[in-house]
Amino acid sequence: MGDRREELRQRREHIEAMGGDKRIQRQHEMGKWTARERIQYLLDSDSFEEIGAHVTHRGTRFGMAGADAPADGVVTGFGRIHGRPVYVFAQDFTVLGGSLGEMHAAKIQRVQDLALKSGVPIIGLNDSGGARIQEGVDALNGYGEIFKRNTWASGVIPQITVIMGPSAGGAVYSPALTDVIIMVRQTGQMFITGPQVIQAVTGENVTAEALGGADTHLKRSGVAHLAANNDAEALDMVKAVLDYLPQNWLEEPPVLDSGDPLDRADASLASVIPDDPNKPYDVIGIVKSVLDHGDFFELQKGYADNLVVGLGRIGGRPAGIVANQPRVLAGTLDINASDKLARFVRLCDAFNIPVVTLVDTPGYLPGTGQEYGGIIRHGAKVLYAYAEATVPKVTLILRKAYGGAYLAMCSRSLGADLVMAWPTAEIAVMGPDGAANIIFRREIEASDTPVETKAAKAEEYRQEFANPYVAASHGYIDAVIDPVETRARLARALMVLYNKHDDRPKKHHGNMPV
Ligand code: HXC
Repeated sequence: MGDRREELRQRREHIEAMGGDKRIQRQHEMGKWTARERIQYLLDSDSFEEIGAHVTHRGTRFGMAGADAPADGVVTGFGRIHGRPVYVFAQDFTVLGGSLGEMHAAKIQRVQDLALKSGVPIIGLNDSGGARIQEGVDALNGYGEIFKRNTWASGVIPQITVIMGPSAGGAVYSPALTDVIIMVRQTGQMFITGPQVIQAVTGENVTAEALGGADTHLKRSGVAHLAANNDAEALDMVKAVLDYLPQNWLEEPPVLDSGDPLDRADASLASVIPDDPNKPYDVIGIVKSVLDHGDFFELQKGYADNLVVGLGRIGGRPAGIVANQPRVLAGTLDINASDKLARFVRLCDAFNIPVVTLVDTPGYLPGTGQEYGGIIRHGAKVLYAYAEATVPKVTLILRKAYGGAYLAMCSRSLGADLVMAWPTAEIAVMGPDGAANIIFRREIEASDTPVETKAAKAEEYRQEFANPYVAASHGYIDAVIDPVETRARLARALMVLYNKHDDRPKKHHGNMPV
């Protein structure tokens, strides 16, 4: 027995050494941790249970026969984060560049299957040269099997990806199918075709970081949700995101009593909306004011900043916040903001997180760029996501809610459970100037003083519609509230809706515009 135990110890020691000291040193020099170091930091201490440590490749070609590949370059298993179970896989660049071969892929599929069956979130730590070139089509098949499982698990369990090294070619599509992508600056890069191929095909010169680094995907492409400065920061973000998510779609997200009084009034909200309707302000101040201790975990910050999305807690319970940002493009809805909004609302709806929508938008962004880019198709996603969502939906109109954008921003008609408004709300088919131009055109043209006439007519329209009371009198707004009491009013609205039950017609699945 002693020999057997000694053999096990030696085997384990070899597997835990992964690619060996030299490659580990190189990994550290690149500013990266190894897969095992990352898992150790991510999970509660001593909670990691490894699965498939002894698995290795079966390759024979291109020098692979007998090639040593501890754990086949990916560490897989389960453990706990803040006491809650999770499954994890972490690719290790020190073993064959973390490349994905048949057995490496099989290990990832195994934890995907277990996570799905157990109703437990799965976290992928990616650091890989992509498909293992020596294994050819078996490696490609491995990716396909992973993509399929990502898709099946979507909306059932939370799937979180951290890009901590290269992620190139079709390999990017597993992360892209998950709920949240976190990238590490300088070391994490995602692209379909790399700089050399781009140079050869299009002649463009671009560095890997500029092409597919964290800030590119956070701010330009919208692929990433969060960017971190190093491995530790990225793994802290995983823990923070999971604190807002349930284990699976059948559970409620975790309630953490914050101790922040629900009826905390905020006198500063009485003056946050400027007297001039065209003057911007920062909606983040309002978001923070209503959330417990002002803690707002913003996602996709830097991408389509005319719309803000993120997670927070009200009375200890998670809430998803969607808010127009008047400081950027006047808070208009455009293609990118629509995509950002729709995906976020679907994340919340999949995982039982109520949605609070704060509205101040003059409408859709006009322009040929938007029309040619398909704002109709992208904007329709917003309507679809809100109308489809069955979680509690509370809408608060702060100022402008015009036209299609009024409807889109979770109006009563689209299925908001409760709609509130500040006294500064303006709800109409369009802004007063535009409305005056159309319905009073003849009077304005016939006038000796067209500018003054137009201003007077616009004011007439504003008096009639630029307030919440017409909409409230028609029942589209349930309550006009004092801004100072916003947190208490939202909290009470959410509290009464937590047990809400709502059904949609049975079907295979909807055909959401994409
Ligand atoms: C096999 C690989 C590998 C791969 C890296 N290695 N990528 N082995 N298959 N795909 C090995 C290297 O041979 C090397 O082994 C070790 O990993 C470290 O790699 P280096 O090149 O020394 O590291 P570095 O200089 O940091 O460069 C990293 C890299 C580069 C940029 C990722 O290795 C690279 O370009 N790799 C190939 C990337 C690629 O084209 N992959 C296929 C993408 S297409 P030794 O023994 O020397 O340490 C794809 C299709 C998926 O993935 C499709 C799904 C549908």
